[in-house]
Amino acid sequence: MIFFREKEACFTNLSFSKDYHCHLLPGVDDGVDDMNVSVQILQRMKDVGITDVVLTPHMNPEIYPSNTEGFIRGRFQKFLSELPSTLSHALQISLAGEYMVVDGFEHRNPEELLQIESGKVLIEMSYYYGSRTMEETIFNLMMAGIQPVIAHPERYLYLADELSVFDRYHDMGATFQLNLLSLSGAYGPASVRILSYIKQKGWYSYRGSDTHTLHHFNTISNMSFPQKLL
Ligand SMILES: [Fe+2]
Repeated sequence: MIFFREKEACFTNLSFSKDYHCHLLPGVDDGVDDMNVSVQILQRMKDVGITDVVLTPHMNPEIYPSNTEGFIRGRFQKFLSELPSTLSHALQISLAGEYMVVDGFEHRNPEELLQIESGKVLIEMSYYYGSRTMEETIFNLMMAGIQPVIAHPERYLYLADELSVFDRYHDMGATFQLNLLSLSGAYGPASVRILSYIKQKGWYSYRGSDTHTLHHFNTISNMSFPQKLL
């Protein structure tokens, strides 16, 4: 009897050279809390061919009230000063933020936000419910000439039966960032349904590891990915 396995690809097939989303700035959120671990992960990233890393600490005044842009910038400067030169020379490391769209975020001055690249701000919603002010946030950012990049839409499982919400966000000007681990199907069929929908539409503009721990990144870099989702 012959068994047909779904075609799979490994990490290197992803051509993943720039990580737009990770939590490696130590001690500021639920990601890495030890500089040595950040160094280990960055070394591992370098070893698997990543050349650019954008640090995106959680920016959520309800959970991390200390994480203002000024505070995070200060921690980033300290981080860079402590980084081994072998890594700082080999990797392009920049600072942004992952902004939770909580009530009131829509009124923030877009100019103050940390951007993942020029004119792009990474925003997220809860994994359990949508943000009430998401559309107002997208509108206000777009009016300020900044494109919102919605982090890991495939993790918002409550939208799997309301895919038109993503059409709405896209029509308003938002784009999307894929979490690599989602490609493994680790978040279940609802996640794969969302992922397939957005991918088929061609709306994923950014990819990220969303790394929080060394184990997390090792899992991603050792993973097999279904070819049909790549
Ligand atoms: Fe994240």
